[in-house]
Amino acid sequence: MATNVVVIGTQWGDEGKGKLVDLITERARAVIRFQGGHNAGHTVIVKGNKTVLHLLPSGILHEGIVNYIGNGVILSPTALVSELQLLEKNGIPVRERLKISDSCNLLLPFHVALDHAREQSLGKSAIGTTRRGIGPAYADKAIRISLKAIDLLKPDVFASKLAEVFEFHDFVLQNYFGAASLDYKQILDETLAAAEIICPLLTDVTMRLVEHRTRGENLLFEGAQGTFLDIDHGTYPFVTSSNTTAGAVAIGTGFGPLYLDYILGVAKVYTTRVGAGPFPTELLDETGKFMMERGYEFGSTTGRSRRCGWLDVAMLRRAVLLNSLTALGLTKLDVLDGLPKIKICVGYQLHGKTWDLPPVNAEDLAMCEPIYEELPGWDKSTSGIKNFEELPKNAIAYIRRVEELVKVPITIISTGPERDETILLEHPFA
Ligand code: GDP
Ligand code: IMO
Ligand code: MG
Repeated sequence: MATNVVVIGTQWGDEGKGKLVDLITERARAVIRFQGGHNAGHTVIVKGNKTVLHLLPSGILHEGIVNYIGNGVILSPTALVSELQLLEKNGIPVRERLKISDSCNLLLPFHVALDHAREQSLGKSAIGTTRRGIGPAYADKAIRISLKAIDLLKPDVFASKLAEVFEFHDFVLQNYFGAASLDYKQILDETLAAAEIICPLLTDVTMRLVEHRTRGENLLFEGAQGTFLDIDHGTYPFVTSSNTTAGAVAIGTGFGPLYLDYILGVAKVYTTRVGAGPFPTELLDETGKFMMERGYEFGSTTGRSRRCGWLDVAMLRRAVLLNSLTALGLTKLDVLDGLPKIKICVGYQLHGKTWDLPPVNAEDLAMCEPIYEELPGWDKSTSGIKNFEELPKNAIAYIRRVEELVKVPITIISTGPERDETILLEHPFA
């Protein structure tokens, strides 16, 4: 029997999804992205070689695996082609391994300009987006003026549809934001040049996935961003513009929800966040700085330093429910090595009451006072450990305590950025 596995970030992104997807890809036939765009930055490190993937699924380094970009992904033709060419230059035959949904909505240069202009105009209230144009591109999809990948197949039709959308956005850019006008011809030419590479890769991804299923092949769905960046369930408005939770798989690929078997949540053993928004366990002290430096917490897409804080189990509990998690993979255990004490947020104080789940409203979350439980740290290095029994006693106690609090089995523990620096207690495809 085939198994269909979903990997989901349970925090605010950058949990180490890329590393775990690459690791478990060996038992899958295909890896599928279903939402987000090139705001994602998924790092895969194999024998010292680092690859940061933005639009390409994290199965792309493996021979014999099909990688799909599903309809829910917002596709920048030029970003895709740059990423593809960079990998091909490094010897990875991307085009032999990649298929793209012809239903993907396109992200074009005016979306990037609008994202910049809006963030700029918000000043101190800015969301802190990746400025890749994600929000404006999804907005076009929602108001039904978006161009789709399939439009690239007919350059004449594409040119006239583009002219209409361009005119509207360029007007807003100039007259509302006071920004510079863009060049229609340049956008058309650049996009059509990228289309030459993209068009041969277009397909009906839903039907390809159904065919894999019929043949009894395992599928691996790769989430981007994280649960609390979900546009509906996250800390709105400090969120991304797609649904990042497990339910988005069915929508973003057309693969029915009853076909999914196993949802693996990924969490760092501490918490990070890039951009603005509430973060109850944030540490603005030496410990936060320690996590940032030791964990090398700089955005894979924008290079911004990530805000760091203690693990928040209250948020994880909500992530378990929102995604119907089967299991949890914990990453970056090694980053906590050497800390004398480790704190876990087990709930909050808000309006004189105790809560064991986070409030839905971002303003309420910002007022929550974390309630901490303190555990002893460990001196010994956990870096690169592959057997659970070799972990220091206190590290095992910490993992067991998190498991007890979250009430989901912890089946993978990552002890370093390399593919094989991992304790695999249960393979999702087993
Ligand atoms: P993603 O967006 O969820 O795929 O995560 P990112 O790739 O943006 O960020 C995770 C970072 O942590 C990357 O630099 C990884 O190489 C690194 N990483 C992943 N797992 C571990 C781990 O167990 N230990 C350490 N030290 N680094 C890790
Ligand atoms: P991966 O897949 C971390 C954050 C941005 C900002 C908010 C909105 O690597 O985990 P957007 O550009 O999407 O409109 O920005 O979302 N954000 C991420 N943070 N990891 C990501 O992706 C992110 N993608 C978007 O920092 O706060
Ligand atoms: Mg990332």
